[in-house]
Amino acid sequence: MPRVTFVQPDGERRVVEVPVGVSVMKAAVNNGVPGIVAECGGSCMCATCHVYVAAAAPLPPLTADEDEMLDVTAAERRATSRLSCQLVLTD
Ligand code: FES
Repeated sequence: MPRVTFVQPDGERRVVEVPVGVSVMKAAVNNGVPGIVAECGGSCMCATCHVYVAAAAPLPPLTADEDEMLDVTAAERRATSRLSCQLVLTD
């Protein structure tokens, strides 16, 4: 099962095992990871699931909708910014 490590701004780390087919956002919400609000429930309409990704695995390309929403995040947009609801775990 894939594992995701969530790192808080203070450096606290939490490793979560995530079934294939589940988004990083759902993994965070289901495991009580702070900072992932996900107001829209994963519809790419709120940007409250914004994360900075340090992944070794390839990521899916940005869609136009995700790219647009990343311009309105509460925290600054970086080159590694993604919406965690758009990142679905694969093997
Ligand atoms: Fe709203 Fe990801 S949960 S954009």
